[in-house]
Amino acid sequence: MTYPPLSSLSAATGAPHFVNPPTVIVMVGLPARGKTYMSKKLTRYLNWIGMPTKVFNVGEYRREAVKNYSSYDFFKPDNECAVKIRQQCALAALRDVKSYLKDEGGQVAVFDATNTTRERREMILKFGAENSFKVSVPTTSLNLYNSLESVKVSCPDYKDCNKTDAMLDFQRRIECYKTSYQPLDPDQHDRDLSFIKVIDVGRRYLVNRIQDHIQSKIVYYLMNIHVQPRTIYLCRHGESSDNLEGRLGGDAGLSARGKQFSAALARFVEEQQLEDLKVWTSQLCRSIQTAEHLGVPYEQWKALNEIDAGVCEEMTYDEVKEKFPDEFALRDEDKFYYRYPAGESYQDLVQRVEPVIMELERQENVLVVCHQAVMRCLLAYFLDKSADEMPYLKCPLHTVLKLTPVAYGCKVESISLNVEAVNTHRERPEEVKRGPGTLIRRNSVTPLTSPESNIKKPRIDDLDEPPIQEVPPSVASLALCSPSHLPLALAGQVQFS
Ligand code: SIN
Repeated sequence: MTYPPLSSLSAATGAPHFVNPPTVIVMVGLPARGKTYMSKKLTRYLNWIGMPTKVFNVGEYRREAVKNYSSYDFFKPDNECAVKIRQQCALAALRDVKSYLKDEGGQVAVFDATNTTRERREMILKFGAENSFKVSVPTTSLNLYNSLESVKVSCPDYKDCNKTDAMLDFQRRIECYKTSYQPLDPDQHDRDLSFIKVIDVGRRYLVNRIQDHIQSKIVYYLMNIHVQPRTIYLCRHGESSDNLEGRLGGDAGLSARGKQFSAALARFVEEQQLEDLKVWTSQLCRSIQTAEHLGVPYEQWKALNEIDAGVCEEMTYDEVKEKFPDEFALRDEDKFYYRYPAGESYQDLVQRVEPVIMELERQENVLVVCHQAVMRCLLAYFLDKSADEMPYLKCPLHTVLKLTPVAYGCKVESISLNVEAVNTHRERPEEVKRGPGTLIRRNSVTPLTSPESNIKKPRIDDLDEPPIQEVPPSVASLALCSPSHLPLALAGQVQFS
């Protein structure tokens, strides 16, 4: 059975075609305002909704060009040599942005740098206009972090450095930027730019000239996220009587072991001692029955219902294989894009659960009691898994996944509640090659031009200017933490406590 492809999907793979010009998102703000946090998180979200997106962090290009960070001196506006290197690094990053958006299937590039001067922003806007890219500018003002403490863990420049020295140097680095910082001017100079200004960790926002669907999605997302510590628990319903027979979908109630799980889940939740835990279920019987045992109020979401298997609902895999052999093979070929006749695909499911993700971003502690395919979609968002990996993520029955936000990602703990259950996971068949759609839809770290590396290395060797061979003395490799190694010219400028 075949169905006509939707107009926005490729008939061959189901992968989306994009008709709008690509977008460059230009971060603006002093160091430690949360630009990288926001860039990475936004990129993860955009990839998850199917918009191929990649972060270009100029700091990484600079670290590639100047292997050993010296001190804040590098960021002084009058350090001519360093200014030149920094300009070259920004240009190299823009070159990679161009390749990504023009040749590598990218749709959104996030240009993660301070971009604190008008001159730098004008250069990027010119670059956007020359290449017909749309440019939008999220800008952060006031610390996203409560203190600079996080710098010591997150900034690779200080990886071999003690905390006090790192903090001191970093504060001085920020002072260097402050001397030349020209914030966006919404009333005059920048009034025609598309931007969102995130003020005081999201207490206020200033949104200016949002012009298209993707920009409004970005604004909506940035207005929903927060940085409060919290935990999200994901689990499936207890084992159902359909699970025992290996049947897909349906609306059966819990098996005896399923009921044991719901009692174990209640004990687990109690042990976690969470002040204010929200519980969400689907509208299907097995999920509701599981939450009933918790003895707390819960909210039912239709959006959390299991993937609709259409004509294959309540069949076993063997029955599907026998009755619809072509469908069975097609699903194996490209499980993310495959849509059950009169049912849904994983791609459809991502769209369906997007409001759940948005609300999860707004909330603090939440337990979501859902279903295998739905849990895979949610998990793929939090763990930045690609569309290719998503339908094969392992989400066993009677196991809780505990997700805790850390630095730029999410820590996951898998906690089995020790109640036996059938295994409903079907591995990717060995003989099936990965579907062509996976070439287009990516997660944030999918390598593009450098398949050998997990993260694409900045290209700094194809600049107009000759490659940076020798680092000038003012930025030569200096050990920040050991003043005795500093050349005389610099030693007096760096104070250590
Ligand atoms: C850096 O070199 O760490 C940041 C570059 C910048 O955006 O100013």
